[in-house]
Amino acid sequence: MLQKIEELRGQIRDRLTAVKSSDELKEFFTKYLGSKGAVSDLMKELGKLDKSERPAAGKLINDFKNEMMEDFKRVEADVANRERAAKYEREAVDITMPAEMREPGALHPVTMVFNQLADIFAGMGFTVYEGTEIEDDYHNFTALNTPQDHPARDKQDTFYITEDLLLRTQTSGGQIHCMETMEPPFKVIMPGRVFRCDDDATHSPMFHQMEGFVIDKNVSLSDLHGLLDKLAKAMFSPDTKTRFRPSFFPFTEPSVEVDISCCECGGKGCRLCKGTGWIEILGAGVVNRNVIRNCGLDPDEWTGLAFGAGLDRIAMLKYGVNNIHILFDGDKRALEQFRK
Ligand code: DAH
Repeated sequence: MLQKIEELRGQIRDRLTAVKSSDELKEFFTKYLGSKGAVSDLMKELGKLDKSERPAAGKLINDFKNEMMEDFKRVEADVANRERAAKYEREAVDITMPAEMREPGALHPVTMVFNQLADIFAGMGFTVYEGTEIEDDYHNFTALNTPQDHPARDKQDTFYITEDLLLRTQTSGGQIHCMETMEPPFKVIMPGRVFRCDDDATHSPMFHQMEGFVIDKNVSLSDLHGLLDKLAKAMFSPDTKTRFRPSFFPFTEPSVEVDISCCECGGKGCRLCKGTGWIEILGAGVVNRNVIRNCGLDPDEWTGLAFGAGLDRIAMLKYGVNNIHILFDGDKRALEQFRK
């Protein structure tokens, strides 16, 4: 027995010094010190001994096992230390290294314009309604008093998806959705992307509009003027003037086009306003009685005001951009100039 113990001691010590990792350590433990390991096997040999020798031999094996366990624990602590040190080294961060610079993001000029408008109108009690970009013919045209043969329905201008579905050409269809789903009186703004088959320096096939829409009792053109004058002054400068020019839109009567005094020259006349001192910024009007009737409301009871502004156009005027594509081409060099 003594000899067996000595042999095993030698073997265990050799193997322990060779152990390099915690995985090897685990393997070692199962092989020698675990419940089915070589040291436990020695216990089985006890049965072969004479009864009188067993207590002494048993003690010998136990002492041996304890001694080997101590050796094992020492190596185990060593391996753990070594592995921790290696991990720290591997994951070390050099805090003196120059940081990778991340460029700050910025809001798109059209987003900035909308946020500003939303602020102004929220202050006047308006809520925001967002419609869908795919619209049916009825909401985009028919219900807006735009008959089948109106030039605005020409396939030249409209992207049709099917006979009945199209990419909305204007946010005005939102007026119909609002009247169909909301209880009057209400005041809403409706921002969104709109689409037209048109592409040059001042037109993009995708652009942004914001519709303003009020349904109430006894609202008039002078309320509309007050509203839009406030918009112009807040958007451009407190001394911006507004004027209404008579115009035509199928869904408003009377209809107006709204000019502001030129934001570049203040009204003296320059290249931007083509010498006139005025710049057109939006279309507006008193909601046509037919449109109100189309949505099941009584035009003798309810009156409406509406306007539609091009957000890109306002952004271009405000930030001095002369080509609409600069806004949408995604060139960072152009866009980062608008960072606040
Ligand atoms: N929807 C018109 C357009 O896209 C703009 C417009 C004009 C909207 C007059 C209105 C309005 O609400 O009253 O050209």
